[in-house]
Amino acid sequence: MVALTTCLFTVLVGFGHLARAYYTEEYRPQFHFSPEMNWMNDPNGLVYHDGKYHLFYQYNPNGTTWGFMSWGHAVSTDLVHWEHLPIALECESDSNGNVLEMFFSGSAVVDVDNTSGFAVPVHDKKGRGRGKKKRYTKPMIAIYTSNYPTAHTEPGGAVIREGQQSQSIAYSNDDGLTWTQYEGNPVIESPPPGYEDQWNQFRDPYVFWHEQTSKWIMVAFLAMKQKLLIYSSTNLKDWSLESLFGPENARFGQWECPSLFPLHVDGSRSNEKWVLMMAINPGGLVPASGTQYIIGEFDGSTFVPDQADIYDPTQIPSGSIVFQDFESTSSTFEDLGWTATGDFVGLGPRQASTVDVWDIRGYLGTGVFTTYLFGDVAKGTVTSPTFTITKDYISFLIAGGSYPYNPLTAGTPDDNQVSFSLVVDGEIVHSQTGGNSEALVWRSWNVAGYVGQEAQLLITDANTGPLAHIHVDEIIFSDTPKDEANWIDYGPDYYAAVPFNGLPSDDRVAIGWMNNWAYAQNIPTTTWRSAMSIPRKMSLKTINNKLKLVQQPVSTLSSLYTRTLYSRTYKTLQSGQTNVPVPAPYNTRMKLTLEFKRGTVSQVGIILRSNSTNSQETVIGYDFLGQYVFVDRFKSGDNAFVTWQPNPYPGRFVATMPTKTTDVITLNIFLDWSSVEVFDGLGQVAITSQIFPLDDSADVKLYSVGGTASSVSVDVNGIKSAWT
Ligand SMILES: *[C@@H]1O[C@H](CO)[C@@H](O)[C@H](O)[C@H]1NC(C)=O
Ligand SMILES: *[C@@H]1O[C@H](CO)[C@@H](O)[C@H](O)[C@H]1NC(C)=O
Ligand SMILES: *[C@@H]1O[C@H](CO)[C@@H](O)[C@H](O)[C@H]1NC(C)=O
Repeated sequence: MVALTTCLFTVLVGFGHLARAYYTEEYRPQFHFSPEMNWMNDPNGLVYHDGKYHLFYQYNPNGTTWGFMSWGHAVSTDLVHWEHLPIALECESDSNGNVLEMFFSGSAVVDVDNTSGFAVPVHDKKGRGRGKKKRYTKPMIAIYTSNYPTAHTEPGGAVIREGQQSQSIAYSNDDGLTWTQYEGNPVIESPPPGYEDQWNQFRDPYVFWHEQTSKWIMVAFLAMKQKLLIYSSTNLKDWSLESLFGPENARFGQWECPSLFPLHVDGSRSNEKWVLMMAINPGGLVPASGTQYIIGEFDGSTFVPDQADIYDPTQIPSGSIVFQDFESTSSTFEDLGWTATGDFVGLGPRQASTVDVWDIRGYLGTGVFTTYLFGDVAKGTVTSPTFTITKDYISFLIAGGSYPYNPLTAGTPDDNQVSFSLVVDGEIVHSQTGGNSEALVWRSWNVAGYVGQEAQLLITDANTGPLAHIHVDEIIFSDTPKDEANWIDYGPDYYAAVPFNGLPSDDRVAIGWMNNWAYAQNIPTTTWRSAMSIPRKMSLKTINNKLKLVQQPVSTLSSLYTRTLYSRTYKTLQSGQTNVPVPAPYNTRMKLTLEFKRGTVSQVGIILRSNSTNSQETVIGYDFLGQYVFVDRFKSGDNAFVTWQPNPYPGRFVATMPTKTTDVITLNIFLDWSSVEVFDGLGQVAITSQIFPLDDSADVKLYSVGGTASSVSVDVNGIKSAWT
């Protein structure tokens, strides 16, 4: 109560002084959640209880970068307007200032049946509840990772090593306002037998009630081993290991923040599948942080993935044509019909084991293509012989530094690409760079729009900076893509997503952290750092014979929409740009829906946050020839804050989405000052990206390239601030 009063007082005083300035700092999101001040990362303990959505989150009460990790807390009745509450679990230090315990990521449940024994009688006010059955609290229980930076002995007697990670619980009998740590903490002190050495990489418990077995289930990770641990409990205090799962699919990075939840297949109540969702860092689709999912079955003990959702990196799709596997390590590129320039003249494929980088992995056979010769100093190109495109996909293994092909600088003195590209008609139509890793992973391009045309593959290393090399292997042509994993989001800024507990399976809403560890601590915001994604409702839908996790922003977001500010349909839209007049302030925060059909065009899209010369712009569109949705932030504004080399920030983020010529394509685009989230109409692809443009780059332009698009409609609603 004291804490609450103080907090309220601060807010009132603050409001008096700063009413106009509240949540209006440069880049401050207006309809995404962000903390009032200081650092935030993963969402934690998402739970719906008694009409309120509780959002806890990784929080540093003491600065705008990571540290002193605590659980911040906010509540909402609609997932749109949030009320900030006092810190729930605050980092603990000893009298010498040594941090004893940080509260790392975890989950929360409401123990309606008092399985934990933490429930207490409700002290009704005089006169209320008379003659009724005595009432009891429904304790809210947080299950989290205790990260112990200092060796010490816990009150319950556990002897803690410096850097240890264990699983602990705390309970609240006042709906999450005040918390008591369980005196028997930690409840799971160490990883299971065989993994004892992972005692400092054991984290992120996600707990839920499993109806069928009437047990609590916990999933947690051994982050560096890419191992999921599944535990069960009847009281949230005593846990037994049920099984282990992984590594599978995207695995060259730490696995963090798992969740496991059921969803109905195509809305059918009789057909339920389980989804394992997890964050991976580094090793995401774009460097570094990403989120993947695997669909399967769960019986209360074991997670069994659907075979269709397991991407064995050693298997290629049946019927594939191997164009080049780089196994002929005694040949030169010229012997193989390829053409080399610069430092690659006279060279050829290499034995991977002789490539002197610290940890080259994931290649097939023994030979690879590499631009790493005597360090990163090699520059030049290697071009394949001309071939005719006959199949819908080109897939390949790739690794190396992230230096994407940038059409603005390619061929100029600023060109720094280290990339693998497809050239059709003299134009680069697809390009892929490395993921800042030496582990080769599968990537694929849809080339259905180019079938019958002649093409060449081009490897370009125009750079001698750190990690300025790529490895390529096993280039195949196939009818289906050979991919690495199912990605939940194809952009750079969606991490550690977890769903709410306490909601029915058909109302499964998740929130992700809208940032990326590659630059999270340097983004150019002022008094706070990081925002959460729009809460997204998830479901399972069969699309092109494959079961997919699809997502849509929660419908309550529409309560912030203004009336329609712009609406226009073009029967045909010629190549070029057309101004979409959106009045301030909604030109920097809007929902824009773009619908169109193919016509003869190659690309249709929208340009946001641009200035009159287009020297600053964020481009979002659909490419019919490459069959992909994309967000391009090469020119989105500030990226000088990124300290990592190679800088993984600039880029075009691509999500393959095959369509037929007659299909109507819908893109729902949510712009909120310093971020864009893009969803196609079905919710099968999502791309989330932060952007840091200048204030007055606020023009909106419709564009098309390469012909006439048909039935193009644009609808814009402004989005009001949820904070003022
Ligand atoms: C805040 O950080 C400083 C060091 O930067 C530390 O001395 C202090 O104890 C921290 N305060 C809290 C409340 O953790
Ligand atoms: C909850 O369970 C504990 C342990 O069984 C018991 O001591 C306590 O009285 C229970 N609380 C309520 C309100 O029933
Ligand atoms: C457009 O933005 C750039 C920053 O990239 C800025 O230097 C330039 O002055 C702007 N041009 C106009 C016309 O606003």
